[in-house]
Amino acid sequence: MIHLDEIQTIEHDVLVVGAGGAGLRAAIETSNLGLSTGVITKSLLGKAHTVMAEGGMAAALGNVDSRDNWKIHFRDTMRGGKFLNQWEMAAIHAQEAPDRVRELEDWGAVFDRTRTGLINQRNFGGHRYPRLAHVGDRTGLELIRTLQDHGIHQGMDVHMECIGIDLLQDGGKISGMLAYWRETGRFVVFRAPVVIFATGGAGKAWRVTSNSWEYSGDGYGMAARAGAELMDMEFTQFHPTGMVWPPSVRGTLVTEGVRGEGGILTNSEGVRFMFDNIPERFASETADTKEEAQLWLDGDREARRPPELLTRDVVARAIMREVKAGRGSEHGGAYLDISHRDSDFVKRKLPSMYHQFKELAEVDITAQQMEVGPTLHYYMGGIRVDAGSQMTNVPGLFAAGECGTGLHGANRLGGNSLSDLIVFGARAGLGAKAYLDKLSGTPTVQQEQVHQQMRSVIDFLNREDGENPYVVVDDLQTTMEQHVGIVRDGTELEEGIEKLQKLKERAAAVKAHATSQYNPGWNTCIDLRNMILSAEATARCALQREESRGAHTRLDFEGEREEGLTFNSVVKLVDGQIEARKEMRPTPPEELAKIANASLEDLEGSRV
Ligand code: FUM
Repeated sequence: MIHLDEIQTIEHDVLVVGAGGAGLRAAIETSNLGLSTGVITKSLLGKAHTVMAEGGMAAALGNVDSRDNWKIHFRDTMRGGKFLNQWEMAAIHAQEAPDRVRELEDWGAVFDRTRTGLINQRNFGGHRYPRLAHVGDRTGLELIRTLQDHGIHQGMDVHMECIGIDLLQDGGKISGMLAYWRETGRFVVFRAPVVIFATGGAGKAWRVTSNSWEYSGDGYGMAARAGAELMDMEFTQFHPTGMVWPPSVRGTLVTEGVRGEGGILTNSEGVRFMFDNIPERFASETADTKEEAQLWLDGDREARRPPELLTRDVVARAIMREVKAGRGSEHGGAYLDISHRDSDFVKRKLPSMYHQFKELAEVDITAQQMEVGPTLHYYMGGIRVDAGSQMTNVPGLFAAGECGTGLHGANRLGGNSLSDLIVFGARAGLGAKAYLDKLSGTPTVQQEQVHQQMRSVIDFLNREDGENPYVVVDDLQTTMEQHVGIVRDGTELEEGIEKLQKLKERAAAVKAHATSQYNPGWNTCIDLRNMILSAEATARCALQREESRGAHTRLDFEGEREEGLTFNSVVKLVDGQIEARKEMRPTPPEELAKIANASLEDLEGSRV
């Protein structure tokens, strides 16, 4: 095999994998701290799932309602996450989000404004007050644009269309990563004592998803093979509103901003069905007062915060229920309507939605209803990290953003992803610096490890025959839709896991034809390993959690159970096999528990 010296080598202090919001924010931090920073991105700079967080970023700025503060944001996040969140992460997030948003403004982000010139904030599901700083319905895009422009000026190096194969380690510590250039198929060794994963989720394991082709769980796969733990993988978020028609764009996101600006959901009978889907506990938790909760329960159409803005898990299940009951929309979803609002307002606040529906579905949303249904959007679970530093249990490996876990618990509130990216991206950068300051010596790259990893992917080309990888991906997506969907059941999950075992064997034996140059078939063979690992981890955690909590719904175990609150699901690769276990949750910090359980009146007055 080729000698290490003959393989292209690039050296950095810090290698960031992924150029979405978390990756760029981490890279800005490390560049600023004087560390040589490389960012690799699977596709082109600017193309990241971050842009699919369209409606805004949550931060208790208190610009639209001055009663808001970090404690209420923290409380909402814990409640939305059904108290399975990592307490410290939820507190750090709520405390630091306002500064991170203002910093974006300093760096040139052009937010929508209130009449008095402050950053405007809109309503979103599960948030007590209008809290989402936004740029029409293109907030994620503006965030990426801002970070990318600012980052380039801080001196980070960007390596585009470059895909990680596996991490390199020296005595357990990170020494770099083997990757390849998508275009040429040539290998490249990155030597770096710190790797920060910001690789997003694994939405592509499902067929109906808002995720694009890049989201194949690369970070989960590489981290697990390097010995890192994954956590809470059963919690996968189905965003209630993806497009359902035409088929070619099924799953494409329809921002929650539509409902935030007053959009209403109806079924084929014209009934605003969300009024019949308010969980009692939920109503009393989210309505301003007991009286308001009662108004909702009574189906009062004038209630201030409509039930369309209940959390995503509740809305997604309600739409499913309507479809199952035969009251779905023409193409198997629900109707979403914003046409009662002034046409100029709709075009100004929701310009992307206006164009998206006009161009893709020939629907004018200022005059017609949209058809929407649940779409796999986000992994609440992911790589387990330390709350403050974002380091994993592998020394030198960090994770931030969707590929990490801890902030969102069993269900993420819309808008908490963009703030997650900027808060914990920055923290990962700081964590990396602290790690490097203490590191003695430089971990080295071992030739044998590189060879072994190269062989594992060249095999896909060199074997004489094997199955087409796209067929395996297709079967994987069918399996996940059928067995690990929005509602789950023990028997179905067990059958799904069996199918995944077979798919794993098939994935190990797939064949890519021709050479490694310009070969999406070969790229798919490599992605498939990570997709299947992520899918199996999800299914195993889902089977282990015998209750319904947040985004995880079990038909055979309805409702939350006391035991469910006592553990997080932790996954590790043991001798190449995925093992899921329950790990007891630590006792909540007293101060934070007090805030989470305080009354709103006390929090608004900051009496707690
Ligand atoms: O609906 C949306 O705009 C998505 C936002 C998010 O996932 O945070």
